[in-house]
Amino acid sequence: MLLKYKNFIRGVSVNRVGKLGVILTTTVFITFLIFETAQTFGLIRNAYLGLITYLVFPVLFIIGLLLIPIGWAQVKKQSGKNTGELLNQQFDTKEIEPGFLGSTLIRTIIAFTLLNVVILSAASLRMLHFMDSSTFCGTACHTVMNPEWVTYQQSPHARVKCVECHVGEGVDALIKSKLNGIRQMVLAALSIYHRPIPTPVHQLRPARETCEHCHWPEKFFGQRLKTSISYALDSLSTPQYTTLNIKIDAGGSGHQPGAHWHVGNDNQVSYTSLEDKRLTMIEVQSRHADGSTRIFRNRRFNGQDNETKPRVMDCIDCHNRATHIYKNAEDVIDEQIRLGKLDRRLPYIKKEALAALLTSYPTLDAAEKGIFNRMANVYKRQFPEAALKQTGALAQAVTQLQEASLTYIHPQMNIVWGSYPSHIGHQRELGCFRCHNADLIDENNQSIRHDCTMCHSILAMESPSRFEYLTEPFEGVRAEPMYRYLRDEFLQTKY
Ligand code: HEC
Ligand code: HEC
Ligand code: HEC
Ligand code: HEC
Ligand code: HEC
Repeated sequence: MLLKYKNFIRGVSVNRVGKLGVILTTTVFITFLIFETAQTFGLIRNAYLGLITYLVFPVLFIIGLLLIPIGWAQVKKQSGKNTGELLNQQFDTKEIEPGFLGSTLIRTIIAFTLLNVVILSAASLRMLHFMDSSTFCGTACHTVMNPEWVTYQQSPHARVKCVECHVGEGVDALIKSKLNGIRQMVLAALSIYHRPIPTPVHQLRPARETCEHCHWPEKFFGQRLKTSISYALDSLSTPQYTTLNIKIDAGGSGHQPGAHWHVGNDNQVSYTSLEDKRLTMIEVQSRHADGSTRIFRNRRFNGQDNETKPRVMDCIDCHNRATHIYKNAEDVIDEQIRLGKLDRRLPYIKKEALAALLTSYPTLDAAEKGIFNRMANVYKRQFPEAALKQTGALAQAVTQLQEASLTYIHPQMNIVWGSYPSHIGHQRELGCFRCHNADLIDENNQSIRHDCTMCHSILAMESPSRFEYLTEPFEGVRAEPMYRYLRDEFLQTKY
């Protein structure tokens, strides 16, 4: 058997080109097998290896196969022999003798061709599968996708594949995404793309088709109690609490509607905006379960005609940062203090850390050095005692801040703090207030509601304790009516 194979190989490789073809095909095939085995057993997990195994190897394999007939053609041309004469020269007469199912040679060629087809289809299937993996999407075009990759890995969706949100199911979605992918690869190779990548992403599969695989409006009921801790800019970085009871119900059957009312089964909200960024609304329409509709126009843009096509609101109009979560600098620092990674015993640590993070640096290297220099200098000059006694805490603070800037700042893509604002909330960005404001009014001059307790009950707001407004206020305290109002509103909210 081995001898037969050797004879066959010697036979088909007529000249150097043919030999090169045979050597290439065989080595690529063997290396492919080794890589594949190593990857299957988890011995190597490098993303670029995937690129080599599934993109480079199959291409080399095909080139190798093609070289063999090219070698034949060359020899035929140089020697002037025809195929028959060449076959006679290369192979035993026994092998080219016509037999029951063609000659031995023809049977061998058919067997090898079938084997190659099987190998190549298996490799293409693996390749398609690999190109659907998050590792591929996140690391193949390293510079371009790095910010999304880094933020994705820290998000609640770190185990959800990129394609589950960006492509969705169905053959046409697959083909569209592959074509789009090829275009993007070319643009990335030629280095012509926007930095940062512009949002909203228009090619995103409609959110209701992707997100609702795992989350659906009937599931959003009741309220969600959320406490966040922030730290004051004073010397002790004093903790302060904000507690909201966020109303997330989709509404209906006696439930008080909350944020998911917009995507409830029988409701719809659509809007046109001034710009593609969907920040300044021109006209907003609502349709309620009972079939009634309301139209709100922005009084500041009467007669404005430069606007976008109407868009039906879906998950992404609020959850635009469901996965690529770019926190703002203050939240990052608050979290690090809460986790004990920044030591509150360092005087003014919140204030100084924030200043160090918010300074803009041209490169990541400059950021690393800049953060170190700034923190070292400030503490040496202003708090010499702390700088001497708390060297460990200070060094740790510097490392933490350097890590934060690596996660959220990407100079190569022009991504700085605030490049990708989130639409949830309204404290730092417009968010909900893009529509819930006094400017959008209906024909009766009524605006879309925007009172402070329609979306959440407020139980504490940068207060010394978590449930500040639930505690009995002193008689006669100036804020007493507010305490009472907020407490009663919370207790009366219907589930
Ligand atoms: C849970 C769903 C989800 C997953 C998983 C997901 N994305 Fe996204 N992606 C989004 C949404 C939503 C947007 C924002 C769309 C918008 O603002 O219009 C987005 C935006 C982007 C953008 C545009 C720039 C930006 O930051 O907004 C890129 C690039 C991107 N995603 C790449 C990826 C890659 C690569 C992966 C996998 C490593 C991935 N996404 C995984 C939902 C997802
Ligand atoms: C393949 C399933 C899947 C898909 C698709 C998916 N998610 Fe999720 N989502 C999850 C899982 C799992 C969690 C994490 C739950 C947890 O950590 O408790 C989650 C969590 C969330 C959370 C809560 C985050 C938090 O901080 O608690 C939001 C909001 C969310 N998803 C929105 C979306 C949106 C918007 C989309 C569409 C762009 C989407 N999801 C698509 C599975 C999915
Ligand atoms: C009008 C804005 C808005 C829209 C539209 C919206 N959401 Fe939400 N969603 C919110 C808010 C606000 C919260 C609460 C935020 C928080 O918990 O921090 C929330 C919370 C969630 C959560 C966490 C729920 C929990 O039980 O903790 C998930 C999951 C989610 N949304 C998914 C979706 C999906 C899927 C869609 C589209 C079908 C959608 N949302 C549409 C505003 C919206
Ligand atoms: C694109 C515009 C738009 C955005 C953005 C938007 N809303 Fe709305 N929202 C509306 C409209 C329109 C209504 C219905 C008003 C009406 O018909 O009375 C509504 C209704 C609601 C209701 C139901 C009120 C009730 O009692 O019936 C809640 C709660 C709500 N929104 C919360 C939110 C939250 C929270 C956000 C941000 C996360 C948000 N909305 C963002 C347009 C918007
Ligand atoms: C249209 C809905 C809506 C209205 C109206 C609204 N809020 Fe909010 N608010 C939100 C949402 C959504 C969040 C984000 C919740 C989260 O953290 O996920 C939020 C967050 C907050 C926060 C917490 C910010 C943080 O840093 O954690 C405070 C404080 C707050 N709102 C106060 C107010 C006050 C005061 C008003 C009245 C002027 C008001 N809100 C009106 C929807 C609303």
